[in-house]
Amino acid sequence: MARTPLIAGNWKMHLSPAEGAALVTALVPAAAATTAEVLVCPTFIGLAAAANAAAGSRIQVGAQNCYWEPQGAFTGEISAALLKAAGLSHVLLGHSERRQYFGETDQTVNQRLVAALEVGLVPVLCIGETLAEREAGRLQEVLRQQVTGALAGLDAARLATLVVAYEPVWAIGTGVVATTAQAQEAHAFVRSLLVDQLGAAAAAAVRILYGGSVKPDNAAELMAQADIDGALVGGASLKADSFAAIIAAV
Ligand code: PGA
Repeated sequence: MARTPLIAGNWKMHLSPAEGAALVTALVPAAAATTAEVLVCPTFIGLAAAANAAAGSRIQVGAQNCYWEPQGAFTGEISAALLKAAGLSHVLLGHSERRQYFGETDQTVNQRLVAALEVGLVPVLCIGETLAEREAGRLQEVLRQQVTGALAGLDAARLATLVVAYEPVWAIGTGVVATTAQAQEAHAFVRSLLVDQLGAAAAAAVRILYGGSVKPDNAAELMAQADIDGALVGGASLKADSFAAIIAAV
């Protein structure tokens, strides 16, 4: 099944609104020159400027998280409904930094995912094991728990837009990239979990992105793997030349 690759930049807590807008403008030609989808995920404060800069281009703009209630007395939170109203298309959910530093669990990721689907945002569900979990032989157990936990109660019809990002925690921001064999093996396992949850046809349509130290020089080899359908890029998405080179590598 042909899946359109998705190259997503996770800007984390970097770039001012003006810097983000300038980066989007600089990426417009690279996005125009590829058949892949291109997404950037700025900070909440940078979303409007990035979306303005992206208007009329092939660059899509998403957020890095959302809260599950539509509105209310939740100081400091941003709902999926507000993101949708701001014209955004995607939202990252369950990034390992959210799980590690902000106490997110499979259950709260599931609540956010349901809220995102409800308003028509494309959820990019982030999963991945720590080094200790991998070394203890728990890779499959951890991925199974994260996938089934995040997708609990949801069927193929509701998950038609789902994107998954497999990001081994030990490869994020470390410069240590998973080998292509390690990445493909994990992706194939994630797809088998999706087959169990959604059925074969729906699972075959889900884009599974690889994330963790993706750079211009390793992107093409990763992306050539059968079950790797794009990349979620942190550090290398902050500069136009490196992100454009990753886009061009698809
Ligand atoms: P990295 O981050 O590319 O800087 O390793 C990836 C991510 O956390 O999404």
